[in-house]
Amino acid sequence: MISRKLFSRILPLVSAGVAGLAMAGENPEAKPIGKFTLIYNVNNNGYVDVCGCKHKKVRQGSLVRRASYLKQLRSTGREPLLLDGGGTLFAAAERLKGPEREEAIRKAALIVEAYNRMGYRAMAVGVADLAMGLDTLKQLTAAAKFDVLAANCFHKESKKPVFKPFEIYNAGGVRVGVFGLLLETMGKYYLEEVAPNMQVTDPLTAARQAVEAMRGKTDLIVALSHLKQESNYELIHALKEVAAVVDPYIQYQNTHSWIKEEEWLGVLDDTLFLRGDGQGARLGLLDITVTRSGAKLKPADRQAEIEAALNNGKATEEDRAELAAFKNHNLFQFERVSIEPHHKEDPDLNNLVAEWKKGIDPSKVARFEAALPRKDQFLTAEGCKGCHETVFEFWRQTGHAHALESLQKTSDEHRYDCIGCHSLGYGEAFLDTSRIGNFANVQCESCHGLSPEHAKDPKRFHFKPIQEDTCLVCHNKEQTLKDLEFFTMRKKIQCPKETN
Ligand code: HEC
Ligand code: HEC
Ligand code: HEC
Ligand code: HEC
Repeated sequence: MISRKLFSRILPLVSAGVAGLAMAGENPEAKPIGKFTLIYNVNNNGYVDVCGCKHKKVRQGSLVRRASYLKQLRSTGREPLLLDGGGTLFAAAERLKGPEREEAIRKAALIVEAYNRMGYRAMAVGVADLAMGLDTLKQLTAAAKFDVLAANCFHKESKKPVFKPFEIYNAGGVRVGVFGLLLETMGKYYLEEVAPNMQVTDPLTAARQAVEAMRGKTDLIVALSHLKQESNYELIHALKEVAAVVDPYIQYQNTHSWIKEEEWLGVLDDTLFLRGDGQGARLGLLDITVTRSGAKLKPADRQAEIEAALNNGKATEEDRAELAAFKNHNLFQFERVSIEPHHKEDPDLNNLVAEWKKGIDPSKVARFEAALPRKDQFLTAEGCKGCHETVFEFWRQTGHAHALESLQKTSDEHRYDCIGCHSLGYGEAFLDTSRIGNFANVQCESCHGLSPEHAKDPKRFHFKPIQEDTCLVCHNKEQTLKDLEFFTMRKKIQCPKETN
């Protein structure tokens, strides 16, 4: 449910007096052209599994749950139009090499196949989607049953579009025009490397052309606009035909994984401004009823609220005026869908993901291990045990000493985005998670730091005192969704004084 407060909250760049596309003289009782459910997500960031470890309550996402949720939705008779705002296939706009690159591509292929099976209709191209090169993106999406949209990408020489600029989909009888846009201000060096023969042109011009080309052929237009917020505001001002814009929140570099409630949905000039979590944590859903071709969308629950007030004789003049404006619009109902464990796992996708997991070979990274600079400086808990037996026994009883088990319970122990906080020295002492050995779990040196000579001469080589920062490396709010109460938490894990 959407509160009135949220809706009266207007995004900063408001221009007064734009009344949308009100069509005078039309019959207000017009029969609906159709109904459908628009479902969007953006910045999937190459995610297959649940999003990075938050608190248990909010460990959301994963393709297998998303698929299961969509099946449940379809079983209620609703017809979803699934759109992805880009930033989908890879974690970041970062060039990878060797086995890491191969692994990223294999995962992207899995995502494409999962999207096929879920019934996605379109995906915009985000900056990160180009990370392994345009040719790779083309190869990967050759297998896609959905469209890959970007209206402002052209071959430098032939001037032909590199991607489909737009497409019109029939959803529940409604003709929905969708176009994609790619950030035109991405780093020159990056673009030169990933797509040397591609030119990214002015998005606004391209958007105008796409809208022009669709004129008279659609009932509703949605932009998958992988641009900066300011550019999307401009787009909304310039193109009144667009009813909704999916915005990628680029100022957070596409890694913003958890979006505040009030940031999901905004309204600017009667156009919906849509955002969502990264990593597929939650989806945005709009149940849309279209009665007027080309008209903008207004919140159905607000309409119901005013109508109820009218019936109770409690409606104000303002309310009446607002309701009058509804007559020229289409209606939507917004919902944020949490992809939580209760959605279960779709068996078909589960098999697909299980096959992919079998192919993960952590030993592929072993050849990098020779280059780990601080490997020899770690003594590990085993190395402290002999002299600090009491402390060692205490530590063994704490959750820290069992942190790897927590990952193993959900088969997440080989995930690079989990292991760092559930082990000692990842990236410094080891990389191959299949040979984690003595580096499993949060250990003495995770808190005390390194003092490689300490064991040889404890009286001369000491450890630094422990401060809050030490804990925050892992116990940060981004992960645990709560502030670290240092003094309370410290009491629970502080090693006992030794008496000898
Ligand atoms: C290397 C990452 C890391 C560091 C550094 C770290 N922790 Fe933890 N901590 C964890 C993980 C992971 C868990 C969850 C363990 C589990 O149950 O899987 C945890 C759990 C805990 C718990 C619950 C323990 C229990 O026995 O149930 C407390 C309390 C805690 N940490 C306090 C601290 C404090 C205080 C510091 C700093 C002095 C700190 N941690 C430093 C990763 C870390
Ligand atoms: C930035 C550090 C960090 C990363 C990365 C991280 N964790 Fe954790 N994890 C923690 C900390 C800290 C705790 C203890 C949380 C607490 O009790 O406040 C914890 C606790 C847990 C727990 C046990 C308790 C609970 O609340 O569920 C599980 C299971 C877990 N993490 C799984 C994962 C998985 C799976 C991943 C990868 C997707 C992951 N973690 C990535 C820091 C991290
Ligand atoms: C979660 C963080 C954490 C872990 C893990 C941890 N310690 Fe500590 N340890 C502390 C804190 C906090 C203190 C209190 C002193 C301080 O604040 O510097 C402490 C104190 C100590 C002391 C001094 C005790 C005294 O007599 O005052 C020793 C020795 C010690 N730890 C050894 C170890 C060893 C050995 C391990 C591994 C088996 C270990 N610690 C694991 C946090 C940790
Ligand atoms: C050879 C025995 C020995 C080993 C191995 C050893 N310690 Fe110690 N440790 C000592 C002694 C002895 C002291 C007391 C030093 C003093 O009184 O100056 C000490 C003191 C400490 C202290 C108190 C603060 C300081 O720096 O004096 C910490 C913390 C500590 N050790 C942690 C560790 C950790 C962590 C390991 C493993 C990585 C470890 N020790 C391995 C013998 C050892």
